Amino acid sequence: MQDQQQPILTVENISFQYPDHTLGLDGVSLTIKQGEFFSILGANGAGKTTLLKILNGLLKPSSGRVLFRGNDLSSLDKNFLFSHICTVFQDPNDQLFAQTVEQDISYGPYNQGLPEPEVRLRVKKALELVGMAEAAQKSIRSLSYGQKKRICLAGVLAMQPEVMILDEPTSGLDPMGVSSIMRLLKKLNQEEGITMIMATHVVDLVPLFINRLAILRRGKMVQVGTPEDIFNDPSMVRGASLRLPRIAHLLEILKKEDHLEVEKIPLTIGEARRTIVNLIAKRRQDAV
Ligand SMILES: Nc1ncnc2c1ncn2[C@@H]1O[C@H](COP(=O)(O)OP(=O)(O)OP(=O)(O)O)[C@@H](O)[C@H]1O
Ligand SMILES: [Mg+2]
Repeated sequence: MQDQQQPILTVENISFQYPDHTLGLDGVSLTIKQGEFFSILGANGAGKTTLLKILNGLLKPSSGRVLFRGNDLSSLDKNFLFSHICTVFQDPNDQLFAQTVEQDISYGPYNQGLPEPEVRLRVKKALELVGMAEAAQKSIRSLSYGQKKRICLAGVLAMQPEVMILDEPTSGLDPMGVSSIMRLLKKLNQEEGITMIMATHVVDLVPLFINRLAILRRGKMVQVGTPEDIFNDPSMVRGASLRLPRIAHLLEILKKEDHLEVEKIPLTIGEARRTIVNLIAKRRQDAV
């Protein structure tokens, strides 16, 4: 296991202005540690995609700098960067370009200089991992939106990067797809030590999969912390136009309105179940 405390990407006081003068990011600082599963949360237009494109070197900050293992991103060779930090874009149509699924996924590993048998093996394995083993010869144009998302993910998996940047990787996936992709990402994170950085507004996924998260609001960083740190401050979360995980919201209502004795608001169904079962047991005991 790699050293989890080592910073892998450091964002130092980044601002980014688009050519039409929209301020996409405003004075953002952040350290992402090696091997963590990090998430960036924020409402539409908060700056998530802009921050991810700064982190992978696609956009150059207007001011401030980004360090990858202590080296300024702008000083690193683009090919080196794109094979170590790989991105699944928000819109699969921005990412896929080849005729067939196999050609598309092969492109990255070929560019990394891998020999053909290794490329074929990686493509096969990546397709199996995303549940699309049968689709290798399919035309990209014939795929559904959710299938395209899976192929984008497979393309990145085939490159075996150190850092995976994922912009809303679960959008457009069916419920089983969401949980299988998230479990796959978590497994790769834990077993292969790949650092995951994921933008999302699906707050319910956060407590289950994420180590730390940052909240963005109108281009500014509002708070960084563990899911417990963040969701124990509901007014900050709502101030960023986000919400608590559904189960936490229910327990918050039960606490406030129905005076249920909950000390710490549970964030997952598992934690909520344990809290409720304990409360029922306590009430039974008190009644005796
Ligand atoms: N190419 C562009 N030109 C001008 N402004 C842009 C451009 N791309 C994004 N912006 C603006 O920058 C701000 C941040 O946008 P960004 O796409 O980073 O938000 P986001 O958090 O990813 O939103 P979403 O949840 O909708 O994906 C928004 O105000 C957006 O309108
Ligand atoms: Mg976005």
